[in-house]
Amino acid sequence: MKKILDLITDEVTKAFTECGYDAKYAKVTLSNRPDLCEYQCNGAMAAAKEYKKAPFMIADEVVEKLAANPIFAMAESVKPGFLNLKIDEAYLADYVAKMQEDEGRFGCEKTEAPKTIMIDYGGPNVAKPLHVGHLRSAIIGESVKRIGKFMGHNVIGDVHLGDWGLQMGLIITELKLRRPELVYFDDAHTGEYPEEAPFTISELEEIYPTASKKSKEDEAYKEAAMQATFELQHGKRGYQALLKHILNVSVTDLKRNYANLNVSFELWKGESDAQPYIPDMVQKMKDDGFAYISDGALVVDVKEDTDTKEIPPCMILKSDGASLYNTTDLATMVWRMKDYNPDEIIYVVDKRQELYFTQVFRCARKTGIVKPETELKFLGFGTMNGKDGRPFKTRDGGVMRLEHLISGINEEMLAKIQENQKTKENLGISTEEAENTAKMVALAAIKYGDLSNQASKDYIFDIDRFTSFEGNTGPYILYTIVRIKSILNKYHGLGKDDSGAVIESAHSKSEKDLMLELSKFNAVMESAFEETAPHKICSYIYDLANAFNSFYHGTKIMSEENETVQKSYIRLLELTKSVLETCIDVLGFSAPERM
Ligand code: ARG
Repeated sequence: MKKILDLITDEVTKAFTECGYDAKYAKVTLSNRPDLCEYQCNGAMAAAKEYKKAPFMIADEVVEKLAANPIFAMAESVKPGFLNLKIDEAYLADYVAKMQEDEGRFGCEKTEAPKTIMIDYGGPNVAKPLHVGHLRSAIIGESVKRIGKFMGHNVIGDVHLGDWGLQMGLIITELKLRRPELVYFDDAHTGEYPEEAPFTISELEEIYPTASKKSKEDEAYKEAAMQATFELQHGKRGYQALLKHILNVSVTDLKRNYANLNVSFELWKGESDAQPYIPDMVQKMKDDGFAYISDGALVVDVKEDTDTKEIPPCMILKSDGASLYNTTDLATMVWRMKDYNPDEIIYVVDKRQELYFTQVFRCARKTGIVKPETELKFLGFGTMNGKDGRPFKTRDGGVMRLEHLISGINEEMLAKIQENQKTKENLGISTEEAENTAKMVALAAIKYGDLSNQASKDYIFDIDRFTSFEGNTGPYILYTIVRIKSILNKYHGLGKDDSGAVIESAHSKSEKDLMLELSKFNAVMESAFEETAPHKICSYIYDLANAFNSFYHGTKIMSEENETVQKSYIRLLELTKSVLETCIDVLGFSAPERM
């Protein structure tokens, strides 16, 4: 369906051109004075210069044309030359009814030119526990992916595991110290290695921090870890077999953690998968004359004439020939282009890595790893801070583990829900249902709290605010959906049926406002996609929930005596529920039946 603003703009354009003015002046926007009008056009002000006329004269002429147009309930010119517009109620009701007929899409058309988009998000490091820093990448990336899919694109999420480098050597070193008898450390072994991993996930999670701590205190230990890393990277069989085990055990655990967050990935590739592409890539950079030796290291210049600040060269190999994070990211682009030929790659990474990605992107373009038509996008997110405005920490100052953060909020939510039940007539909610509901609401609290901010901004993770059932929060949105569900259940519970009913012209101002909000859905989805901006969907559903709640408080829905009117209300409620549910689904959470 055409966007409602475009439909209105079409009419205003006709009026402008009929009066002899250029169509470019007919741009209509949502009103910034909702008390006066619903839409506005400021074009007469701009046209005044070109046509050397007073703006209000132009506005008056245009208004005269619009006054006769049935799609407007009001077209007014206001000094010095603004156009204030209100949409016709019947026209709006018809638009909203058409949205409802368009099941699942609600007037938002899929793209005619689907793109292949890869999203690099999550970025967990194998064997290291997930911490809150990884939370934002997972939440934002998942939503960006779902928005793209909703718009009809072929979107592929890749978790890009941190599974290469010193942390692997550290784990191997510690394991060797503890269990030297393991076959993986027997250099004479030529046969197969066991299929079963020699450790559990909890051991693995304990081994890494222990090893990391030791390496900071003990030089010889660190040496050994570096040596193990080198041997692993150069193909030592026993270590390669261990790496496989470490990966398997970690990935199983990660999948479980991400599933709890309603996050999933199409690809479980990691930094290690890029390694086979490095030698040829480096050779080609040298052959093509892009890479040169500087202070012993192999680098590619990436600065550009228009730079206002210094962009250092992109380092490809260290002086000892070892590869780096850069090298891996570039080689990852090699297989991404070869296997998927994406139109776009989006990186959802901490914004502190922005300069790094500028270097990598430039290097990839310059050396031809990524074709010019492929867009590379860095979606850098800000830091999630605690209430004190400083990076989120545990009470004793340690790094907060994601699991602990989430279980803490789950508990808080459970207490809240149980408390809530006491104030209502006994809904008979079982402990099991209460626990599941608590998890759903907690997830909404966390995700909405994150996504409602523009991704690039830092934000304060304020548990009390995020878990509140009032205000601009996830639980408030869920509460609104649950409220609608409960009215619909009551209505149908009475044996009533609204099938085939039409949505009538609004019977009140608050009902019209609700319809106006609903009608924005396709435009919001489109711009959230184009601007990679899930926060636009959050602010939309907050407005929509508010519009619904005002309508609900001002309208006797269940006691409405006129059945046709009641049916029309119920249809509108169903649409509101569906639109809200579609929106929270692309944000990556869902609503319970009751709460
Ligand atoms: N593993 C990295 C970290 O924990 C994030 C990876 C981001 N993605 C990338 N392609 N470099 O910081």
